[in-house]
Amino acid sequence: MGAVIIDGKAFAAKVRGEVAEHVARLVAEHGVKPGLAVVLVGEDPASEVYVKSKGKMTVEVGMTSVEHKLPADTAERDLLALVARLNADPEIHGILVQLPLPAHLNSELVINSIDPAKDVDGFHISNVGLLGTGQKSMVPCTPLGCLMMLRDHHGSLAGLNAVVVGRSNIVGKPMAQLLLGDSCTVTIAHSRTKDLAAVCRGADILVAAVGRPEMITGDYVRPGATVIDVGINRIERDGKTKLVGDVEFASCAAVAGAITPVPGGVGPMTIACLLANTLTAACRANGLAEPKGLTA
Ligand code: GUN
Repeated sequence: MGAVIIDGKAFAAKVRGEVAEHVARLVAEHGVKPGLAVVLVGEDPASEVYVKSKGKMTVEVGMTSVEHKLPADTAERDLLALVARLNADPEIHGILVQLPLPAHLNSELVINSIDPAKDVDGFHISNVGLLGTGQKSMVPCTPLGCLMMLRDHHGSLAGLNAVVVGRSNIVGKPMAQLLLGDSCTVTIAHSRTKDLAAVCRGADILVAAVGRPEMITGDYVRPGATVIDVGINRIERDGKTKLVGDVEFASCAAVAGAITPVPGGVGPMTIACLLANTLTAACRANGLAEPKGLTA
């Protein structure tokens, strides 16, 4: 097993450190303190843990963290009214509405009511279109984190063959756009792809974002390829709950040149990139230069 293990936990800590330095300078030189508002509707335990962790790290990098917890039966008009207030609030530079929303709420309508300039998730239809046409946008956090790790490991990605397995709006599609933006030759594969293993073996960069535990095995990996595992799956094994990715780590690490583990790979980068996006939004809102190395 010769693969370099890409330490996402350490890389995320480095990114948060850089964000904190920029924030300190923004406050000292421009009197601007970036503010992130997180809206959580209902009581999904996984979402609560995630939101708490976001709030803690937001404060740690010197930003203002505002949390709005609304009951599960919140009416859509009340949620839209809250988003409208946050859109108009000059102290708030980033807005994140935690997904999934309860079934009676229209997620697309709510997400598209966020001011695109404050849409730090990059889910607003305007940001999706801007990314797809190579224009300045807010970029979804998880694929942005993957891109940062890939650039750090490879330097230039130009000309590399990238295969993204998964076509979600949150990861697969924006990941493919970002890799294309860095001049990769990009294939989007998915559950209906013919001979998926052979397609994956063509990849210099293989990004797994399918949501199926350990589906990508060593025979999908070209020797020396870089494997990025976006999956977070809870499985029962030997009577214990275990966290595994979409990649079978041992068999892939034996073949790959570099690989991200689960946990400790892509996961920690998501919140780091959320903070980076909030910083970027605060800089743009004030007509200031964007932080280098923290955007697409
Ligand atoms: N739920 C799980 N991850 C995320 C995320 O990155 N953004 C939002 N809005 N909801 C999520």
